[in-house]
Amino acid sequence: MTRVEVTDLVKEFSVRDGLRRRRFRAVDGVSFALEPGRTVALVGESGSGKSTIARILSRLERPTSGVVEVRRDDGAPVPAARYRRHVQMVFQDPFASLNPFHSIEHHIARPLRIHRRTRGTDETHERVVEMLERVNLDASFASRRPHELSGGQRQRVAIARALAPGAQVVLADEPVSMLDVSIRLGVLNLLGRLQREDDLAVLYITHDLATARHFSDEILVLYRGRVVERGPADAVILDPHHDYTRLLALAAPDPERIGKVVSGEAAPDRATLDSAVCFNHFTGEWERAAA
Ligand SMILES: Nc1ncnc2c1ncn2[C@@H]1O[C@H](COP(=O)(O)OP(=O)(O)OP(=O)(O)O)[C@@H](O)[C@H]1O
Ligand SMILES: [Mg+2]
Repeated sequence: MTRVEVTDLVKEFSVRDGLRRRRFRAVDGVSFALEPGRTVALVGESGSGKSTIARILSRLERPTSGVVEVRRDDGAPVPAARYRRHVQMVFQDPFASLNPFHSIEHHIARPLRIHRRTRGTDETHERVVEMLERVNLDASFASRRPHELSGGQRQRVAIARALAPGAQVVLADEPVSMLDVSIRLGVLNLLGRLQREDDLAVLYITHDLATARHFSDEILVLYRGRVVERGPADAVILDPHHDYTRLLALAAPDPERIGKVVSGEAAPDRATLDSAVCFNHFTGEWERAAA
């Protein structure tokens, strides 16, 4: 199985500021590990750096500094040429991530061929059907084109495509946020089942604290590129320590709170939020980021 260790990840972008350009730190000193059979959730507001971390892990982007180590069971690093086979991404938008000109079969057969998972057309077709069945779609979907599928079905195809090369690490960047609320849980449950079957390591990026708690083992709360709170999923959601995590929890819809007045004390002022400290539930201590 494959394990990913991220240490002190930093990503700076050069952004235009009037006539000058300046450096902007989108990810600032983030560390975590992805282990087989476990899910780590990254939560945080828009622009907090979640997708940037996923893009670095999937090698679509290079870090400014920091290390991403991907190792097999025996401790040997996964060679660059095999990286894509081990680490795959599921994107937010199932409408943009599939090519409208190609059949569903083409989408799943391509990674099988590129990563030499099958030999010959027949075996490839068999495997495509097998992958479709694993995501609860039948063989008739193989010849269809993406526009003939619903959003949920497309996202299932995207998941089948990600797993086709034999991926062991799945980076799911808001995999259900563009889907209808009624089918979100179905897709997340499917991902959970595949994770158990294949012992996958999953990074789950979301705005939704409720599904982060339900579907992950560990939660990292990101604020302005920094982790401000981390710990077991239940601890972070039920006993948030950092003002920012509390703010996120307050912003989340909660049927029990509807109609109630939220006290001023519970909602911290944005100016007092401090991204330089992180509450670690594993140690029970506050940690201060290096300046
Ligand atoms: N290529 C780029 N050049 C300059 N700035 C960028 C680039 N990519 C991302 N950023 C900036 O980095 C910050 C983090 O972006 P990122 O996409 O990681 O946020 P996010 O947490 O995924 O947000 P969302 O929840 O909206 O998807 C943002 O302020 C964004 O504008
Ligand atoms: Mg994003």
